[in-house]
Amino acid sequence: MKQSSWIAPSILSADFFNLGAEIDAVMKAGADLIHFDVMDNHYVPNLTIGPLVCKSITSHVSYPVDVHLMVEPVDSLVPMFAEAGASYITFHPEASRHVDRTLQLIKSFGIGAGLVLNPATPLCCLDYVMDKLDIIMLMSVNPGFGGQSFIPSTLDKLRQVRRLIDESGYSIRLEVDGGVKTENIAQIAEAGADTFVAGSAIFGKSCYRDVISEMRRRIEQR
Ligand code: DX5
Ligand code: ZN
Repeated sequence: MKQSSWIAPSILSADFFNLGAEIDAVMKAGADLIHFDVMDNHYVPNLTIGPLVCKSITSHVSYPVDVHLMVEPVDSLVPMFAEAGASYITFHPEASRHVDRTLQLIKSFGIGAGLVLNPATPLCCLDYVMDKLDIIMLMSVNPGFGGQSFIPSTLDKLRQVRRLIDESGYSIRLEVDGGVKTENIAQIAEAGADTFVAGSAIFGKSCYRDVISEMRRRIEQR
């Protein structure tokens, strides 16, 4: 059961001096949700933004925010982001000692929960938790930085996860994060993704609407 395609601009590549205007601009240009990359200088080497910035978005606008936690440990930040208005919280299974408990914790706030698999993370970590997942996100780069190149083996992994989701009968979004561009988005959609994170391919470009429309056109025409 294929879902409609969602484009999720990653604000990691936005101009932070004008963050509110950047977010308004991508959403008005046709994006579906805001991808919010949280890095802690521990799980990944980079350091980015926290619940305060999330709250400053959700208290002004009602756009859905897809919080991607690249942090370790995970659990103490979940309530903070839930209270800051996150619509979805995803995390990396190896960063939580009790994955099932963390998924339950996220869902206890009435928001969507998801697991994020790095390029080398095997799919067996999805066994036994499919019933608790709203999103499975495959990293198509190693987490930590925007602007990296898409790792081609993700396509085969996407096909395998697409099959797992379809066989499970659950309604789980299949998201891909890293190196997504207008040039490769058709292939990525073909492999089974329905939710596309894109940072450097959108922010910094002269017309967000042109990029997002072109991405949609290529997803639909594949
Ligand atoms: C990487 C982040 C991504 C990244 C995407 O760790 O999770 O969301 O910012 O950026 P691009 O689209 O530039 O690869
Ligand atoms: Zn991300």
